[in-house]
Amino acid sequence: MNKNKYLIAANWKQNCDSKSSIKLINDFVKLFNKTKPKCDVLILPPSIYLNTILIRLNKLKVSLKKISLGIQNISPFLNGAYTGEISVDMAKDFKCSYSLIGHSERRHVFMEDDKIISAKTKLSLESGMNTILCVGETIVEYNQKQTKKVISRQLKSALLKSKDLFKSNQDKIIIAYEPVWAIGSGKTASLDDIADVHAYIRNTLNKILGTKKNTIKILYGGSVNDLNAASILDIPDVNGALVGGASLNSKKFIDICSSI
Ligand code: PGA
Repeated sequence: MNKNKYLIAANWKQNCDSKSSIKLINDFVKLFNKTKPKCDVLILPPSIYLNTILIRLNKLKVSLKKISLGIQNISPFLNGAYTGEISVDMAKDFKCSYSLIGHSERRHVFMEDDKIISAKTKLSLESGMNTILCVGETIVEYNQKQTKKVISRQLKSALLKSKDLFKSNQDKIIIAYEPVWAIGSGKTASLDDIADVHAYIRNTLNKILGTKKNTIKILYGGSVNDLNAASILDIPDVNGALVGGASLNSKKFIDICSSI
């Protein structure tokens, strides 16, 4: 596994306004230019500020190959009468090269089920987007030792329906393991648990693909910060991080990016 190609993603969620999102990206780009982190960096702003951030990055002469843009959620439909939804093609129009699918808040707050997530994964891959598929267990499932069962179900339901698409686009799919109970709680999974679950995800992907090995990126997410990032990113099957809270602080986020 090539551990050089880490991906560190900033999930801003439903935070910031126009002014503070400009300040956040300005501050981050300054630090980015100074420290030149070795990883790929992805920013997932609220959709309504994608254009604001795109304009800022252009003004600051930052290549979208260095700091990529992504959308936090896409519609499960290509287009049509779906009030309030944003299609994958609309996101591409604003230079998004990544989409985030099945985030725990989408699954548990907005009640997205495996079927919706499977449809979104298919549309995202078909459109050529780098597709980050999030999986993870709740605290009840964790306590009942159901973690692997849940993750297996989530991976299979999202990927098996689009198996051929998945097979021919392995470089476009990224898995993010985020235990639901670790998100925004300040509690990360133990290093042993992360290692175990990431190895399990790697094996499950091999089984789905019918291969012996794969180089699909597997990110960890859930209370990653500037202090714990280095030890998490050091785990063999961890190829990056999906960062929520700490990505709203430019110094903390650049420290995470630089901790590789
Ligand atoms: P957190 O969020 O870093 O605030 O825990 C991570 C995520 O939800 O992607």
